Formats: sequence, C-alpha cells, structure tokens
Amino acid sequence: MEEINVNNNPMPRIGDKAPDFEALTTQGPLKFSEYNKGSWVILFSHPADFTPVCTTELSGFAKEEEWFKARNTKLIGLSIDSIHSHIAWVENVRKNLGVYMKFPIIADLDMKVAKLYGMLQPGESETAAVRAVFFIDPNGIIRLIMYYPLNVGRNMEEIKRVLTALQTASKNSVALPLNWKPGEKVIVPPPKSLQELDERLADKNVELIDFYLAKKELAVE
Ligand code: BEZ
Repeated sequence: MEEINVNNNPMPRIGDKAPDFEALTTQGPLKFSEYNKGSWVILFSHPADFTPVCTTELSGFAKEEEWFKARNTKLIGLSIDSIHSHIAWVENVRKNLGVYMKFPIIADLDMKVAKLYGMLQPGESETAAVRAVFFIDPNGIIRLIMYYPLNVGRNMEEIKRVLTALQTASKNSVALPLNWKPGEKVIVPPPKSLQELDERLADKNVELIDFYLAKKELAVE
C-alpha cells in the first residue's frame, strides 16, 4: 500500500481520482478502491459521534440506505473518533431512535483520511472534520463535492437530487438546469457543428430557445 503524506495533500477536486486508502470501519477493515468497485460511493464526514446535528444527519443517511442501494450507490461515513466510540454511538442511535446505521463508518483517529480528502479545515476546527460529502463514480472519479461547516446540517433531498442529476447527466450526455428535478426537461449540449444544429432544428422533441439553449424531455424508463 502506497504511503500517504498527510501533511502536504492538495484538496481533492472534481474530476480527480478519489484517493485510495485502507481504514478500520464499523464493518471491519476496508480498502476504499475495493468498496468503490462497480458502484457509486458517497463518502461523507461528520465532526463527532454523540453530537446532535451529526445524529440527525447520519440517521438520515441510514433511513435512505435502501434508496441509495437501488441506485447502485454505497454509503460510507467518517469522523475523527475511535472505533469504540463509533460502535457505542451506532448502538445508542439504534436504541434511542430505532435507526440502524449499517453502512461502514471510518474510525479516523490519526486523521489520515480526513486530511487526504480535505475534510480537516483548520479555520473551522483543527480536530474535527467538517461536514463533507464526496460523490464518487464507479470509475473512482470524484464527481461532486460539498463542504458544510460544523454548525449547519446537510440537506438529504439535495444529496439525493444531485446523485440523480449526476447519474442522469452521465447516462444521457446531457446537463441539468437550475433546480432540476427528476422528470423535468434536461439541457441538450450546444451543437458542435452546423449539421448538429440542423438535426436539432428538425427534432420535434427538442425545445430550441436559441442555438445554445435547448431542452428536451428524457424518455421515461
Ligand atoms: C453537532 O453535530 O451537533 C455538532 C458537532 C460539532 C460542532 C457543532 C455541532
């Protein structure tokens, strides 16, 4: 396994290969590239176990695990806490809220993974990860990144929306407009030749507002 320099890592960016790592998780030891093989992965960090906002967020992820699974997407959490803390918290949430966090949660006590993914942002906290969300495609490419501060919880509807948007854009070679939701029209990329423009002008399915701004409905599956 390649050694990771945790001090000098640039922040990961959209389009980068997701940095690989091995870590201890609530589901046992895990190699990220193996976990990612053949599926989308949402890797998200939370500041600390046994804190209120994190409890609402992670139980929210747990409640939607089947929704993500149906979209070929695996979840994996992370915080700079011990495996014992994670296990106790998962059990506590199961008892108190009746929600079981089955997805692996990384115990990142040495901050190795948090630093690798730019989750440790010292202006916000030197010891706790910010609320990051990485959307990683089945080829291991980072496709979208969210960073939230410690005191603002994430939005599950937005997380689900952008995953659907990423998958829709990839599958259909289209782009998605402001506030796009599944079922709404998508943006057809601008034509790259006069012939493509002519084809578009003749296509009854395309709503052509101008040559660069065209929308269409996707076929319902
Ligand atoms: C929370 O999850 O409630 C929380 C965690 C760290 C800082 C502030 C809030």
